[in-house]
Amino acid sequence: MADILLLNGPNLHALGQREPGIYGDQALPAIVQNLQRTASQAGHSILPFQSNHEGALLDRLYQAQQDQVPWVIINPGALGHTSIALRDAFLATALPFIEVHLSNIYRRESYRRKSLLADMASGVIIGLGPLGYGLALEAICQRLQATGKGATGTGS
Ligand code: DQA
Repeated sequence: MADILLLNGPNLHALGQREPGIYGDQALPAIVQNLQRTASQAGHSILPFQSNHEGALLDRLYQAQQDQVPWVIINPGALGHTSIALRDAFLATALPFIEVHLSNIYRRESYRRKSLLADMASGVIIGLGPLGYGLALEAICQRLQATGKGATGTGS
């Protein structure tokens, strides 16, 4: 049994209403609910946290480190392109994570075509819409299983 932190950055609370042609029509609570269902089938649980504030995301990450949360899924929103503070927090906590972007940031404006997190991520999933979160979760479940922390593993 493991808790997986799901971090969503600025403007992602507005999924479903926000530029649906780019981000789709699924709202964040529905996405979280689906992930929660998949996670619980694997014996895990999702800890969802969305904030429009950089510092709140950092604080939540440090909290996760204290709580020994084993994995993070993050869609950093625009902060992924700009926030050295968020990068530093991942360096400081050394929490393994998968970065997700709903849209294909490489097909968009040039300022979106870089991530300050990607080189530290275990994996990056881009351009697949909400499915990206599900794939990230699946990858994490497999890794937890492999390290004995999965539902049927021998770890805690
Ligand atoms: C995003 C891409 C970012 O460029 C943008 O600022 C977002 C959402 C995505 O999921 O595609 O807020 O992270």
